[in-house]
Amino acid sequence: MVKMSFRYGLSLFFMNVIPGAWRRTAAGAGLLAADGTVAPTIFAEMSAAAARTGAINLGQGFPDEDGPAVVLEAARAAIAAGANQYPPGRGIPDLLAAISEHQRRFYGLEVDPATEMIVTAGATEALTATLLALIDGPDDEVVVFEPYYDSYAAAVALAGARLRTVPLRAPSFQPDLDELAAAVSDRTRIILVNDPHNPTGAVFDAEVLAEVVRLAERHDAIIVTDEVYEHLAFQTPHTPIATRPGAAERTLTISSAGKTFSATGWKIGWVHGPAELVTAVLTVKQYLTYVNGSPFQPAVAVGLRLDDAYFTDAAAALAQKHRILGDGLRAAGFTVHAPQGGYFTVADATALGGADAAAFCRALPERAGVVAIPLTAFVSAAHRDEYSGLVRFAACKRVDVLEDAASRLAALSA
Ligand SMILES: Cc1ncc(COP(=O)(O)O)c(C=O)c1O
Repeated sequence: MVKMSFRYGLSLFFMNVIPGAWRRTAAGAGLLAADGTVAPTIFAEMSAAAARTGAINLGQGFPDEDGPAVVLEAARAAIAAGANQYPPGRGIPDLLAAISEHQRRFYGLEVDPATEMIVTAGATEALTATLLALIDGPDDEVVVFEPYYDSYAAAVALAGARLRTVPLRAPSFQPDLDELAAAVSDRTRIILVNDPHNPTGAVFDAEVLAEVVRLAERHDAIIVTDEVYEHLAFQTPHTPIATRPGAAERTLTISSAGKTFSATGWKIGWVHGPAELVTAVLTVKQYLTYVNGSPFQPAVAVGLRLDDAYFTDAAAALAQKHRILGDGLRAAGFTVHAPQGGYFTVADATALGGADAAAFCRALPERAGVVAIPLTAFVSAAHRDEYSGLVRFAACKRVDVLEDAASRLAALSA
């Protein structure tokens, strides 16, 4: 007993003094306390609250239903056929070919599978490897829209660059083009665009994409896109920035299979772009994971070759789920910002006494039996006040689960 508490005390002591990149990573993610300890992420905290209270977890964005049976079966068959050793460093040729076919079929993009593309451990590794590969010093800046997917700030900090944010404001969550232009300068190394956007559900207007390309050209910046929700856009088909005039030669396009095939645990992603940029990313990536997911790579190739109906049906089914969730939220008294794409609906809880959404979300499991995430989890400390009443709810759950959540939430107004 004595020994255990001594050991625990010692580890806390070391946590405070151990130098290393972990500290700036934690600080970038807003998780480093003043005493040097690391707070758990809000996702971990809220998932624990869901487990403790039995609340419906609309916090973290993962589906509770499997994806297409033919894709799952292809992974089983690949294991049975012995695809259990290291795949090639760039990815198996069949998956590289399938991604290239997919980019041509949906977007008219021509990508050489041999030189202009690599497979990664999810979009997350592609993003982190890209930032580590292309950032060259503390004066480099990465411009992102805010709120942002939480790994961006952590990875930018790990890479040792400065984060410059451009606000997205309700109700449209489109950026102000002057604010965008003001954020990009000759110090900008990367403009990182997530479209469709997590957490706001925005799909960026053509003028926004055009302005990103214009600014990147003007300041010689690289565009990095995160398009993991590419097949989950509800109003208009997704447009990769790389298809815009002048963009392809300076854009790294990142996506993954997790959302498209409801297989978030498989962690098969990819990045494509000009060969020299892809080689730079591969140089770092090969020392992060080297390779991953050999039986899942052929399965994702099967998925990417499914007929158009699969992709349109997946978007329509998710849009319907957002409607069920949105109706419940409206009935409860939230102001709902219906998403144009992605897994999440953002709603304003101010009218329900949720002007401090972080406190509201901490109480919600007990109050309504539902778990959600405050939008402040996706913004830098300096801008939290601007998002303080907003809450993010995941809609990627079974219809019966969403109906149950909607009726629990509706009871809040009673
Ligand atoms: C915007 C965004 N990018 C990347 C990811 C992670 O993708 P992957 O699981 O392929 O690493 C997520 C997952 O939630 C996401 O929302």
